[in-house]
Amino acid sequence: MRRLDQILANLGYCSRREARAYLKAHVVTHANGTREVDPARKVDPATVRVDGEPLDHPDGLLILLHKPLGLVCSHEAREGPSVYDLLPARWRDRNPVVTTIGRLDKDTSGLLLLTDQSALVHRLTSPRHHVPKRYRATVDRDLPAGIGAVFASGTLLLEGEDSPCQPAVYEACGPREAVLTVTEGRYHQVRRMFAAAAHATVLTLHREQFGPLLLGSLPAGTWKLLPLETFDPVSAR
Ligand code: URA
Repeated sequence: MRRLDQILANLGYCSRREARAYLKAHVVTHANGTREVDPARKVDPATVRVDGEPLDHPDGLLILLHKPLGLVCSHEAREGPSVYDLLPARWRDRNPVVTTIGRLDKDTSGLLLLTDQSALVHRLTSPRHHVPKRYRATVDRDLPAGIGAVFASGTLLLEGEDSPCQPAVYEACGPREAVLTVTEGRYHQVRRMFAAAAHATVLTLHREQFGPLLLGSLPAGTWKLLPLETFDPVSAR
């Protein structure tokens, strides 16, 4: 049981200060249908209704989004249009905040996960957990035959870094197209790996898979909710 004003504020309905006015303007009821106007009342979030609707995912959110090109993974408005603009406005006011699990560059498309579960963010972004991320890339020149061995070697150094990349799995799809599966999430990692291994510039980059999750046919710019248990503690370890 938690205070109603705290629940409403954490789920983005209103601020705690606005809760009293919110409860006057909206019909907030208990499971038995009685109206509640006291922001300090302790309630079970599962039983509360707001204007007849259950609370908006009070247990948390895990979102699979198809990031289109041109959006940034940032909460900073000055960085331009953001993936968060694709989500319901109320979710932007939640606390804990909804955040991306790792990032994709502005000019990378594909599978992006978002959540308000910070433990999940840590688990899935930590290089210790080796979560595979599969990218399809096209590049500006023919890729050399030996590049797969370089990516697999675990010795590839990115410019400006001292520790080599973890081994990555390379599949050639054409002279200038490949799929690369990496288990880290370094800054511009895939672009820098192609630059380091073949002096190649990545022209297009698209993430097809994150751990066990495939993007499939989800249209660009849309998202779907996943069960919070999608990454159970054992499978993500
Ligand atoms: N590697 C990159 O270079 N960019 C991304 O957005 C993701 C992986």
